Amino acid sequence: MPIGCDRNVLVFFVNGVRHEVGGRGAFLSLARYLREQASLPGTKIVCAEGDCGACTVLVSRLVSGKWTPLTTVNSCISPLYLFDSCMVVTVEGLSEQSHLSEIQDKMLDHHGAQCGYCTPGIVCSLAHLAETSQAKGIRIDRKRAQNYLTGNLCRCTGYDPILKAAENIDLMQWRPLGLRYLTDERTDYCQYLASQTVLVTAGNRRAWLPTQVGQALAIKSASPHIRLVAGATDLGVLHNKGRQYLDEVLVLNRISELSEVRRVDDGVIIGATASLSEVEDVVESSHFELARLLRVFASPQIKHQGTLVGNLVNASPIADTIPALLVMEARLGIKSAAGSRWVELKHFYQDYKKFDLRPGEVVTEVFIPNLPEGAVARFYKASMRKDLDISSVTFAGVLQVKGGRIVSAKIALGGVGPIVRRLPNVEKELTGKEFSENSLVRAGDLAIQSVHPIDDVRASANYRRLVAKNFFKKYFVETAVELNQ
Ligand SMILES: Cc1cc2nc3c(=O)[nH]c(=O)nc-3n(C[C@H](O)[C@H](O)[C@H](O)COP(=O)(O)OP(=O)(O)OC[C@H]3O[C@@H](n4cnc5c(N)ncnc54)[C@H](O)[C@@H]3O)c2cc1C
Ligand code: FES
Ligand code: FES
Repeated sequence: MPIGCDRNVLVFFVNGVRHEVGGRGAFLSLARYLREQASLPGTKIVCAEGDCGACTVLVSRLVSGKWTPLTTVNSCISPLYLFDSCMVVTVEGLSEQSHLSEIQDKMLDHHGAQCGYCTPGIVCSLAHLAETSQAKGIRIDRKRAQNYLTGNLCRCTGYDPILKAAENIDLMQWRPLGLRYLTDERTDYCQYLASQTVLVTAGNRRAWLPTQVGQALAIKSASPHIRLVAGATDLGVLHNKGRQYLDEVLVLNRISELSEVRRVDDGVIIGATASLSEVEDVVESSHFELARLLRVFASPQIKHQGTLVGNLVNASPIADTIPALLVMEARLGIKSAAGSRWVELKHFYQDYKKFDLRPGEVVTEVFIPNLPEGAVARFYKASMRKDLDISSVTFAGVLQVKGGRIVSAKIALGGVGPIVRRLPNVEKELTGKEFSENSLVRAGDLAIQSVHPIDDVRASANYRRLVAKNFFKKYFVETAVELNQ
């Protein structure tokens, strides 16, 4: 496919106002653009790493001609080029005709702010809560409010007043943001924008924003070392820390065909740009353990933008989804201009951050098979706190038991070596054994002899071994009733 571009500036809407940005501005983070160039300083930047939520804004994008629900993202780690043809709503866009919104009123009534630095981000997350609760007809209670605020850190008010404000939001007083901002006229215009291929450049920097897989493959084939960007929740942090500069990028998130998540008879196919929160919703009914794991993955802001494929290809030894997908025998769909192939995830990883992906290739999807009949899965992560924390050790186990004996075992551990690994020797040791606490404990002992954890700021090697070993026992305790039936 020939590579041509229809436009060389980004065009998007912020609070209903059209913005056009080319050149260096297109390479700023959304947060910096809002504050420094769009005169919208309500959005704050504190950590610039996606951790505190002060930079939270709401975004809706067109996928296959339809607006996605407005959801929260961390604008500090998001390059502006991720938002072409999108609708962005910032804290300034929540009030109407100089009246504070229902959420801001309730934050005032319940004294939900002191220094106020976290407040715009908290208000935007609560706006997302109000939007979703209203659309789904669900009452806002404390638990739901806490879940929506997982990615927002307040250092001085204390959460009680903020949660009281959330519980008291009157949804009858909330006018959906979509009604205000996603008008027919803007939708038609954004559909036209979303159909255009964009190339923005600034000096030696360039960002390609194709709309079709064929174009993406042609660009990758012509520039094999161009950096692929999906949600940028890994890359944006590296960029902000100066560890990796995103100078030449191929942005995948405007390619509608890559965003599909579909159930098929024998499993689920997840497109490369499907967000982790979309995956969480879809696998709730088919791969419940994966959905449960995703509940403690990062924060809503990160999951709305980060992708499952990004987590797999980032290839971190402590990535949460890799052990789970290894034991579920997932396969990656990979394409290049020369053709396509499937790679089993267990053959994908080779060494620390080294994997079977050639320079001209793009991962287009991941297939996760259904669990075999009678198999029971458990996926665990150990981290210093429950929410929004990086794992020290991860475990995934899938066993099948017949007549009290283990007939099949799949085990993977992460955080105990340079890559996440299946443990064939442990699987062999378990197969044919009685399903008992003793067998699992012995398997845990063998597992920790097969791995080589390191000491680092997150955990010591000894701690990692101990936790990994205990996960085997935990698996037995949690599944004993189910597997012994
Ligand atoms: C605050 C915070 C909390 C986090 N919490 C967690 C957590 O709890 N657990 C966890 O595991 N991770 C966590 N992460 C890491 C990150 O969010 C995930 O790894 C996420 O899934 C990355 O997806 P992405 O789409 O943003 O990837 P990107 O940053 O866009 O890309 C990541 C890598 O994948 C490559 N890539 C992306 N798409 C493709 C493709 N289609 N084909 C080939 N290569 C591709 C990119 O070139 C890059 O090398 C966290 C990150 C932050 C900032
Ligand atoms: S500034 Fe902390 S998450 Fe963006
Ligand atoms: S009000 Fe000061 S950090 Fe929350």
